Amino acid sequence: MQSIWSMETKLPNPRPKPVPLKAQAVVIGAGLAGLLTAYTLQNQGIQVIVLEKDHIGSGQTKNTTAKVTAQHGDLYHRLLAQHGEEKTAQYAQANRQALEDYRRIITENKINCSWQEAPAAIYSETNKAAMEKEYLAQKKVGLPVCFGEESQLPFPVAGLVTMEGQAHFQPLEFLRFLGQNLTVYENTQVWGAQGKMLETSQGDLQAEYLIFASHFPCLRLPGAYFARLHQERSYVLALANAPCFSKMYLGCGGNGWSFRQAGEYLLFGGEGHRTGENSTGGQYKKLAGQAAAWWPHCREAARWSAQDCITLDGIPYIGQFSRYRPNWYVATGFGKWGMTTSMVAARIITDSILGRKNETALVFSPQRFSKTAAKSMLVQGGKAAKSIARQLIVPPKGAVEELPLGSGGIVQWQGKKAGVYKDMAGQVFVVEAKCPHMGCQLEWNPEEKTWDCPCHGSRFDQYGALLEGPAARGCSNE
Ligand code: FES
Repeated sequence: MQSIWSMETKLPNPRPKPVPLKAQAVVIGAGLAGLLTAYTLQNQGIQVIVLEKDHIGSGQTKNTTAKVTAQHGDLYHRLLAQHGEEKTAQYAQANRQALEDYRRIITENKINCSWQEAPAAIYSETNKAAMEKEYLAQKKVGLPVCFGEESQLPFPVAGLVTMEGQAHFQPLEFLRFLGQNLTVYENTQVWGAQGKMLETSQGDLQAEYLIFASHFPCLRLPGAYFARLHQERSYVLALANAPCFSKMYLGCGGNGWSFRQAGEYLLFGGEGHRTGENSTGGQYKKLAGQAAAWWPHCREAARWSAQDCITLDGIPYIGQFSRYRPNWYVATGFGKWGMTTSMVAARIITDSILGRKNETALVFSPQRFSKTAAKSMLVQGGKAAKSIARQLIVPPKGAVEELPLGSGGIVQWQGKKAGVYKDMAGQVFVVEAKCPHMGCQLEWNPEEKTWDCPCHGSRFDQYGALLEGPAARGCSNE
């Protein structure tokens, strides 16, 4: 399963090479946040290199729907309640500035990345009051919104908040431009960091500044980001022969359907869930069934899924990694809004390294803490404790013989608990049931035939090979 961006754009995957002994700044992660940060730093005269464990754009950037908007769902009324008007306005301003930064970079460099201006809209099918509340919140912090009840959607809506002057683009073509202008070491895994030293699979190196922009920070401590982030998955279909939408839409509450035009295709997404909590599957089927009911002549051209890191209060963590590591920076927890927040990260981190004042930096500070965050942290901690206990105490559900063909589960295998997938031919694939990150019990994801961790969202294929962190290694049974 590949996104339409991956089908259209093939980025090269060079062979690994030894890293230099020294660099002024090192960015870890060659996705949008990492490359934008490196690009911005380099433009300010900082000597920067990028390390990537796989290749440019191999992480989440290829799976985004690439809506470039400051309208982040119905987040603003919650931000107002939690953080007050000044900080919420700063959050809005940072994301509006990001949109401007994209326009400037793309125009100045004549980047061919299908940039297209389009309004963004959020809707609710049933809850007009909720949409009115969010409309007032967005208006209060200066966002250019209007309220209505008319849409191009194939069902009635109770309320719609439209923000003019937003955009969408082809993220991998944009990434290709950034990568061409940077020094990127691909196939280079970071194994550890200590002060100014980085240990990597291609040698050790020393840097003045270390910037962790690899989706989920690869280190457990300091920072304890594992306790402050969880991950969610969502699904997308690219539909041909579907209507052409001039706005980008996102449903709030209910099923959270997302729509946006991408050339001849309508991208239709949703059916999200917390990673590791999808034991029944059927997400693609639900989306495809719904699309066929609305547009019987539409055709599915591609399907893919995305994984997002979510913070305790909905605001990304951008800035100093930890108060104990003044020369380390982090950019993570973008929720579903990685396009503008990657640009926000590039600006904040660059300003911080250059010692420039940034009015919006405090809002994104990873060191912030609030009552809401504390409550959310307890819930996350509870989920992790439950999953670890399940791994340690709860016996396997049955024997491998009882598993139906084409399914997976935690069963008894050679006298121990193990994760077993049985393919349609009856061949079995066995993995450790325990996540190598911190020991939670893995869950079978029938939708994607993967083992997913409900605690912090690591994922593994049927052989136990690592697909996504924070785990640093696979869970193979060998
Ligand atoms: Fe943390 Fe699995 S991802 S325990």
